[in-house]
Amino acid sequence: MTREDDLEILFDEQAIERTVLELAAQISRDYAGKDLLLVCILKGAAIFFTDLARRLTIPVMLEFAQVSSYGSGSVSSRVVTVTKDIGSDISGKHVLLVDGIIDTGTTMDFLLKRYRERGLASLKVAVLLDKHAHRTVDVPIDYRGFEIPDRFVVGYGMDSREKYRNLPYIAAVRQE
Ligand code: PRP
Repeated sequence: MTREDDLEILFDEQAIERTVLELAAQISRDYAGKDLLLVCILKGAAIFFTDLARRLTIPVMLEFAQVSSYGSGSVSSRVVTVTKDIGSDISGKHVLLVDGIIDTGTTMDFLLKRYRERGLASLKVAVLLDKHAHRTVDVPIDYRGFEIPDRFVVGYGMDSREKYRNLPYIAAVRQE
C-alpha cells in the first residue's frame, strides 16, 4: 500500500443510508414486541451500529464487545480472543450481533459459539459488508447490507492500520 492510499468509492453516503434504513425497517418488524439487545462488535461496527440503532423504531438495549484476532487468514491458524465482553447478563434475551464486515468468518463464528452457550431467547447476525468470496468458515447472516468483492475496504468504521474509520463512505484500496 502506498503512503497516499488510492481509494475507489464502492458505496457513497446515500447508498449506505438507504441500506441502513432498509435493514433497520426489517429488524424493527422482526423484533416488534420483543426485548432486543444489539451488540456492537468493536471497532469496525461502531459507525454502522450507531446509525442502525438510531433508525430502529423499536426500543433496544445496547451492548459492546471487542475481539482481537492474530495469525494469517486461515481459520486453523487464527486465534480470536475477547478483549472486552458484553457487560451484562444476556440470558433469556434476543441478541443481535452487529459487525461491519464478515470476511473469513472467523470472528463471527467464534462469537456465535461463545454466546450460544448463554441461554439466549435468540441469537442472530447483522452485518453491513459480506465479503463472501473470502469465507473460510460458514456463518449464518440474518441481515446483510452489501455483498462486496474480495478487496480490501476502508471507511464507515473499517480501517487500514487504524486510518480511514471516519470516512462517511466505503472505499476499496487500489493496489499498485
Ligand atoms: C474486522 C471486522 C470483523 C472481522 C472480520 O475486525 O470488524 O470483526 O475483522 O474478519 P473475519 O471474518 O475474517 O474474522 P478487526 O479484527 O480488523 O478489528 P477492528 O474491528 O477493530 O478493525
